[in-house]
Amino acid sequence: MAAKTAIRSESGKVRRVIVVGGGLGGLMTAIKLCEAGVPVDLFSLVPVKRSHSVCAQGGINASVNTKGEGDSPRIHLEETAYGGDFLANQPPIKGMTDAAPGIVYMLDRMGVPFNRTPEGLLDFRRFGGTLFHRTAFAGATTGQQLLYALDEQVRRYETVEVEDENGMAIPGEKMVRKFEFWDMLSLVQDGQGVCRGIVAQDLKSMQIEAFPGDAVCLATGGPGIIFGKSTNSVINTGTAASAAYQQGACYANGEFIQVHPTAIPAADKLRLISESARGEGGRVWVPKNPKESRRGREVPESERDYFLERRYPGYGNLVPRDIASRELFVTCFHEGRGVYNTRTAKNESEVYLDLTHIPKPTLKRKLAGILEIYEKFVGEDPYDNPMRVFPAVHYSMGGLWVDFERSADGGLVHGSPRNQATNIPGLYAAGEVEYQYHGANRLGANSLLSCIWGGMAAGPAIASYRNNMGSSAYDAGSNLFDGAKKREQAKYEAILKMDGPENPFQLHAELGQMMLIDVTIERHNDRLDQVLAKIEEIDARSRKVSVLDTSSRMNQSAQFVRHLQNMIVLARVIAQGARNRDESRGAHFKPAFKERDDANWQRSTLAMHREGTNGHGQVNYVRELAYNLNGTQVNVSDAVDVGLVKPRPRKYETAGAASATAADDKAKASPSTTSV
Ligand code: FUM
Repeated sequence: MAAKTAIRSESGKVRRVIVVGGGLGGLMTAIKLCEAGVPVDLFSLVPVKRSHSVCAQGGINASVNTKGEGDSPRIHLEETAYGGDFLANQPPIKGMTDAAPGIVYMLDRMGVPFNRTPEGLLDFRRFGGTLFHRTAFAGATTGQQLLYALDEQVRRYETVEVEDENGMAIPGEKMVRKFEFWDMLSLVQDGQGVCRGIVAQDLKSMQIEAFPGDAVCLATGGPGIIFGKSTNSVINTGTAASAAYQQGACYANGEFIQVHPTAIPAADKLRLISESARGEGGRVWVPKNPKESRRGREVPESERDYFLERRYPGYGNLVPRDIASRELFVTCFHEGRGVYNTRTAKNESEVYLDLTHIPKPTLKRKLAGILEIYEKFVGEDPYDNPMRVFPAVHYSMGGLWVDFERSADGGLVHGSPRNQATNIPGLYAAGEVEYQYHGANRLGANSLLSCIWGGMAAGPAIASYRNNMGSSAYDAGSNLFDGAKKREQAKYEAILKMDGPENPFQLHAELGQMMLIDVTIERHNDRLDQVLAKIEEIDARSRKVSVLDTSSRMNQSAQFVRHLQNMIVLARVIAQGARNRDESRGAHFKPAFKERDDANWQRSTLAMHREGTNGHGQVNYVRELAYNLNGTQVNVSDAVDVGLVKPRPRKYETAGAASATAADDKAKASPSTTSV
């Protein structure tokens, strides 16, 4: 049978692929699968339009170079590799940066209301780690606009009928079926470990079902909630990634957690004040006098310390986030120079982010979204007052390990079934849930890009895998799915019976607080040892919680107990990875090991789950992985492919340092100066 025509299984069922996650990564994967003629079942914890991509603010990177600055995909690649401190494999980055301009034009055609220049061209702003205007933006609500645009495309496929081999519509079968408010509990794996579907729970009826899928793609976002409050949405517990990890998927570079320098507090979560504020000229400062108690706007210019501009004259306020957050941390915690808060009447660990010198109409046109957020949650007018901001956990560079196939020119072999494939055959991953594009530190506005590009790579890869697979998941036999469903039902019933002395929400607060203090900006081995011991304690206590709510509909407590258990597993991976890596690289900074150590640590951390004898999980680190893809054994190692951009020390004091090409071009054009 020609693989492409096999729309039905032997048993006559329409062969679908499962995508878990309705953010940009999941939606783009679904679109690409539909374009390849592959029907999709799309699962999402929340309504697709409330996926965490909606929170992204500042923009999406693409070296379109409309401003004639000499930017190019090559420079974008170099700056991404450099910004990530040379821990990311470079072929996938090249695939992404080469595709970026086309992606932005595609989004424009889909109707994303990107800001434009007076001439009507797409406008671009600066973001961290580059001197180029490379970030396309829709005010400061770019993620929302992109998400809604892709959502509309997917909605279209919800109305398109699946066609059979003769081009006839199959009654009742649409290209996309959407399952909103469903929580993925586990993968369904056959005797060979091949992923054949998922078990998921309807969060309204709490009913548990097993779903076959010829492949599964996880696009479930990051695990920021492990750190308590963060800029992440409350759904971002990493639960699906953790479940896959516990079933054999490798988790890579877990220790690389990004802290965004500028956020504000709120009761439910922390809210981002986008890097685009600095991209539009916002300046970070603290008073020179640490005891200063006047309001920010009353402190005269001569008494302000613009410490990022002073310490990094080349990139100033737009140094990459790992550096900016560390500098804020040093300024507030080590130097005690956090700014005075008139509400609490004390110096807090906050700095000023000042936009008051920028004309109001410009701010309204480019940043209104975040300024409204500031006004609403802080209660001050950011047009007239410097904003008070502090660093917050924002993004995970680490995630499920995924593969790629390198092309002759050092990029990606498009459509290779290896692209975005995890080491569990039939399981793919795209977006923040995977580790592939950002190395030790992600550059701002590369996230929306990597989500969309990840989906563009995953869709064709999965279609290729599906076209060449042996038997369909739909022919795997009902025992496999019944068994998987029963296992999850038994686990859920056990959760519902939990009536121990511990409170799951209190345990989460303890876990988050500890992870936040000791596993973010500064890491010390003695503290990490304590964290690891405490994770064991929390793990033990999590088995003695009370479920708090036993209702049979919309039981959020029972769901949270499950997520807590899964968060504990990933917390261990993150903390243990940090403990092991005795160097400083990107977002991972150890004062006792201040330098990057390429000889020993220019490699990905590859974590595999192992059941410990005490019932707690253990992390087993490996240097090599082997997996089987449609009968072919693939062997990979933890070595990082740095064949395109040679690693060199990372410094942002000098303008243009992040790109060898840009620096060369600049030197040729103007040999006597390095400033821009
Ligand atoms: O600051 C921001 O707007 C965030 C962007 C990002 O995380 O890429």
